[in-house]
Amino acid sequence: MERSFIMIKPDGVQRNLVGEIIRRFETKGFTLVGLKLMAVPRELAEKHYDVHKDRPFFSGLVEFITSSPVIAMVWEGEGVVTSARKIIGATNPLSAELGTIRGDYGVSVGRNLIHGSDAIETAQREIKLWFSEEELTSWEPSIKSWLY
Ligand code: TYD
Repeated sequence: MERSFIMIKPDGVQRNLVGEIIRRFETKGFTLVGLKLMAVPRELAEKHYDVHKDRPFFSGLVEFITSSPVIAMVWEGEGVVTSARKIIGATNPLSAELGTIRGDYGVSVGRNLIHGSDAIETAQREIKLWFSEEELTSWEPSIKSWLY
């Protein structure tokens, strides 16, 4: 089953949006298979954002992600990678549609509340980077019907 790596960034945690953000993924119908609150080691932040290492915002981004705890999660379900990106909204919250997390709660691109994997291959890489196998638990509801 498809999985995506979702992280609530320090601003999302500090603004008490953890419950609201999790609610959006739950009510969409996705399944939470991994979750932890953690302080992010610098090396992990640098690896996670490796693709941006030559961009001018890289060092500020690493500073921000390592500045206070994040919620790291893995969500599972059909089409979860693409769907999560829609739930999250555009990178710049001022361009993000209302109804998305960034569109509803964000203002600044450098404080856009949440990360979601941008492709299935990226998700696989990021999940390996942030979670060990033992930390992830696949499970199914007792009553299977319309739930993914
Ligand atoms: P990116 O992977 O382009 O966006 P997304 O998070 O939507 O996949 O960029 C990673 C993060 O880098 C982004 O969430 C916020 C930060 N960032 C900036 O601070 N300034 C910028 O100009 C860009 C493009 C990103």
